[in-house]
Amino acid sequence: MLMHGRKKRWLVKVEENKEFHTHIGIIKIGNVVGKPYGSPIMTSKDKQCWIFQPVPFDYVHKFRRPTQVLYPKDIGLILMMTGIGPGSRVVEAGTGSGALTSVLAYYVRPNGKIFTYEKREDFFEISSENIAKAKVYDCVVQYNQDVMEGIVEKNVDAVVIDLDTPWLVVQTAKHALKDGGYFVSFSPTFNQIEKTVSKLDEENFHDIQTLECFSREIKTKEGATRPNKFISHHTGYLTFARKTATQLIM
Ligand SMILES: C[S@@+](CC[C@H](N)C(=O)[O-])C[C@H]1O[C@@H](n2cnc3c(N)ncnc32)[C@H](O)[C@@H]1O
Repeated sequence: MLMHGRKKRWLVKVEENKEFHTHIGIIKIGNVVGKPYGSPIMTSKDKQCWIFQPVPFDYVHKFRRPTQVLYPKDIGLILMMTGIGPGSRVVEAGTGSGALTSVLAYYVRPNGKIFTYEKREDFFEISSENIAKAKVYDCVVQYNQDVMEGIVEKNVDAVVIDLDTPWLVVQTAKHALKDGGYFVSFSPTFNQIEKTVSKLDEENFHDIQTLECFSREIKTKEGATRPNKFISHHTGYLTFARKTATQLIM
């Protein structure tokens, strides 16, 4: 990733004879080869850029987004609350633009897997391109399928749902989860949460809680540091629950 100033960032594939044209001049991409991350590189107009290793945020930022995507603050909370990490097996629905898929895949590397279900063919195709762009395809299995028709995987560590009727997926998710595994659902409205929590109770899930996460950027400039005027007020609520075992240990 090449970065200029505080905000401008470009993801560029490094090729020996490539020239990359920007509003601050041309960058000879071949000159990047062999330079460590964090190094500066000059444009033809003598402007300075920095070479950084891209992180999931940088890839998702550049995705084609035909759907609403999950925000970093919400994805961070999912990781923290569920312990999804290297080696985890996670089912996700719907794939949408593949933003959540790509970040989860990044964190379950190298031997974990994200099994993701998307019912719409157009979103399936676009998310597929996005996941490939994020270079995490090895850790993703994609289905162009309605998740309500069933989940193929069994004994998974977590099922993460971002679609409009999560309560209708609770039972299907229960069959796919290992005992103690996590059900997570992201919903923008209270009535969706109520229906989901009621279904989770009915299916004997435990440790049910719903959280909302806030974040706001602070503009930092000496003498003028303050919150950014433009913040995203409302994204949605995250409901977490753990599957309980049916067998009693005496
Ligand atoms: C808000 S988007 C998901 C965005 C995704 N979390 C991301 O970060 O890119 C919701 C997606 O769920 C899909 N969807 C809705 N119902 C579904 C179902 N029953 N099975 C599979 N996908 C479904 C929709 O087509 C849509 O693409």
